[in-house]
Amino acid sequence: MCGIIGIKSSDNDVIKKTLNCLHHLEYRGYDSSGIAYLDHDKIKIIKKKGRISDLEEKIDFSCETNLAIAHTRWATNGKANDTNAHPHHMGQVTLVHNGIIENAAILKKELEKKNYHFKSDTDTEVIAALLDDMVNQTHDKMEALKELKTKLVGSYALGILFDNDDALYAVKKDSPLILGLDTNSYFIASDVPAILDYTNKYIVLEDNDIVKIDTTYHIYPEQASRKIHHFTSSYSLDDKDGFAHYMLKEINEQPGIIYHLLSKYLKNDLIDLPDLTIYQQIDIVGCGSAYHTALVAKTLFEEYSDTKVSAYVASEYRYQKNFYSSNSIVIFISQSGETADTLACVRQVKEKGIPSLAIVNTISSSIARECDNVIYLEAGPEIAVATTKAYTAQITILSLLALKISYQKGLITNLDSIKKDIRHIKEVLIHLINDINYIKIAKKIYQRRDIFFIGRLIDYAIALEGSLKLKEISYIHSETYPAGELKHGTISLIEDGSPVISVITYDKIIDKTISNIEEVKARGAYNIVLTNQNITSKAFDYVIQIPKVNAFLNPIITIIPLQLLAYYVARLNGCDIDKPRNLAKSVTVE
Ligand code: AGP
Repeated sequence: MCGIIGIKSSDNDVIKKTLNCLHHLEYRGYDSSGIAYLDHDKIKIIKKKGRISDLEEKIDFSCETNLAIAHTRWATNGKANDTNAHPHHMGQVTLVHNGIIENAAILKKELEKKNYHFKSDTDTEVIAALLDDMVNQTHDKMEALKELKTKLVGSYALGILFDNDDALYAVKKDSPLILGLDTNSYFIASDVPAILDYTNKYIVLEDNDIVKIDTTYHIYPEQASRKIHHFTSSYSLDDKDGFAHYMLKEINEQPGIIYHLLSKYLKNDLIDLPDLTIYQQIDIVGCGSAYHTALVAKTLFEEYSDTKVSAYVASEYRYQKNFYSSNSIVIFISQSGETADTLACVRQVKEKGIPSLAIVNTISSSIARECDNVIYLEAGPEIAVATTKAYTAQITILSLLALKISYQKGLITNLDSIKKDIRHIKEVLIHLINDINYIKIAKKIYQRRDIFFIGRLIDYAIALEGSLKLKEISYIHSETYPAGELKHGTISLIEDGSPVISVITYDKIIDKTISNIEEVKARGAYNIVLTNQNITSKAFDYVIQIPKVNAFLNPIITIIPLQLLAYYVARLNGCDIDKPRNLAKSVTVE
């Protein structure tokens, strides 16, 4: 939700390094940013509404310092402005924070009685005041930091500086934080990509860890068990490889990623994937696009593997009454592996002793570490806020899990046909990605106020993702309906020229969905039909024809045209495609 970085170095070029690292965190939030650094003996704070590039205009890069913290914000408490931007300072404390403090209002009232005066609307300023008060009472910073967890309710990753102290401090609970290790510098950061320009060595901090960095680093309560990891991904982080946006780059990375995953697991006849036939109940849980993959998986498992699956939105799952059989498993889907609602479900399920499997992209992320088992997407860091390659990688893993069940149950007697299909999957995907017709369609619809998606069963689940892609990057209102449901009310919104995008790939429902397309056509709709079927109708205004492939591969390719349609509509609308307004890549608050 926000990105934090801190550096303590033996070199004096920390301002440039800190801001460079902060740029790599900008996808986590970008409505305001700020930096605090030791300028001779004083802590200097510069912060500003807007992007990091706006902040940089106010920075004196000639200033030499070896200690700094910085923050890029996605507003939670208090709107995006200079005052609410981090870092926040109170008394002897200056800090940056990622997370949400749920008891901030109560603490603020108690601190105001102690004569603390607040300038911002943020919970973070309350943490600074509380810590200042606790240090004044204990006269011991480490003691105060250890006690902090008894006072704060909520999630926090903190980077902290104290007046007259050239050490860097950090505290972690529920929000992600890593400790980067380099020969001359130590880093604290919200995630690994932030520090890769300088080091690939890092320690994943655990909840309630406190770090003090002076000439070296100290982790409390104990350091010994904290493993030093080496990030080895070959993915280039720094550039778009010539593409106009990270999103387009990542769309183009999909053929290679999908082919890698399919061939990796099929070469050993899926033996390396978990055996799910031992479970009587399978729940799949995620948020946003991750939830959409759960819905796609539900149809694949039920239709082709004769296995009941339930798909849930994590923020509902964690509060609803859940029923488990004697042998249940919960599968958690997450690109970042840090989504707060999904992580909360992981912890709940673990408390109940229910087996858990994570399907995530970010190595060593909280969800990956806290689930009993993990399957990594191996998709490389996804920088664009709107997920594409992680989504299709998740679908690929889920399809392979469903395929394994079919194979184990004898519903599929051999894997040769799908092994043959995957030989061409890269070419199929590359051809789909390079189809210039999406630009033609985008030009017809990019100025519309409302765009509707319809589909049935797996096509409805795919349409949900297509609709989310469109609205989150082009800011056009878009809704998705089960095709048969549109006539029960929403059809009243269809007017002359209303674009309706229909997805028809599922054999059993072709005629029914064509009837729904004709119903909206009769009310003036402009019908765009995405299909792998050989169908036609006077009601079709534009057909996006995709190849028919093995049912387990179908959802992987069907989403590609919808990703690109969303991309070109957003581009025509001049939107900030990689960092859409109001969004953040990793939603680590509830
Ligand atoms: C997808 O385009 C969105 N950015 C969002 O819905 C995302 O899928 C959701 O926040 C879940 O994130 P996660 O996969 O990192 O858990």
